[in-house]
Amino acid sequence: MGFNVYVTRVIPEPGLAVLRKECETTDVNPDDRVLTREELLSEVKGRDGVLCLLTDKIDAEVFDAASGAKIFANYAVGYDNIDVPAATERGIAITNTPGVLTDATSDMAWSLLFTIARRTAESDKYTRAGKFKGWGPMLFLGGDITDRTLGIIGAGRIGTAFARKSVGFRMKVLYSDVRENKELEKEVGAKKVDLDTLLKEADYISVHVPLMPETTHLIGKREFGLMKKSAYLINTSRGPVVDEKALVEALKSGEIAGAGLDVYEKEPEVEPGLFKLDNIVLAPHLGSATIETRTKMATMAAGNLVAMLKGEEPPNIVNPEVLKK
Ligand code: DGY
Repeated sequence: MGFNVYVTRVIPEPGLAVLRKECETTDVNPDDRVLTREELLSEVKGRDGVLCLLTDKIDAEVFDAASGAKIFANYAVGYDNIDVPAATERGIAITNTPGVLTDATSDMAWSLLFTIARRTAESDKYTRAGKFKGWGPMLFLGGDITDRTLGIIGAGRIGTAFARKSVGFRMKVLYSDVRENKELEKEVGAKKVDLDTLLKEADYISVHVPLMPETTHLIGKREFGLMKKSAYLINTSRGPVVDEKALVEALKSGEIAGAGLDVYEKEPEVEPGLFKLDNIVLAPHLGSATIETRTKMATMAAGNLVAMLKGEEPPNIVNPEVLKK
């Protein structure tokens, strides 16, 4: 007990309950918005631990302001918002929330795939506008999904879950990854190919890589040029993996058929050219946004934080070397 922790934005109550039970002080940003830089730097002062979000930029300056903090527990599986080496240098543990959001995020990728392929969002607007005057042989023709080729870029947890769900649609599955995924190959008959082959052959391409220098703008002008004109791109990973300006051009020129995005290069900003297009569906970073999943993420992040403060190993530590210091 005696712990003093800060939560940078309201998360589901069960996570906050874990913190309140185990800590003497649990302060939570009362406003449903991202803290300003000044607020963040001031609120982390004197805390033993901080539960932060992917919208908080956590770098050396923040760690120095939080001198004495033992842990920053991220409420996300991705932790590209955190300068992990800077944390490690200072002996601060960083944790994430892997596994619990795998299904929700891969479901979201499917939701975008269906929506763009069958033009559901576009036709919803049309119907609401009172334009539906009866069945039409040429009305909102989309792309077939069954028996098509699915390309998975990044066959980790989420990419694998996404691929597994294709079985009912009898899809041929290609994947590109630095590692072989024998399980995926055995389960769905997936074939590992290089990225260019995947881009050339897949009808639906779904991105599931973490954001790193090597994956920034992994999909850009050259890659769109390799895709089929009938291909669709889905991105539920991180925005900067796709060059948004090049995507606008590819969608405008008909170089690809359509795209579904849940994430953006400069969130919350969206490349204005994307708003002008009908062949794209845009979601506001909702991959893990189900009640059950966000609740699990909250209790997991809180559990990581409390474990570290109690001197135990946090289950989801990403820089375990700090425990040896
Ligand atoms: C993550 O966890 O990294 C998602 O982007 C948000 O849940």
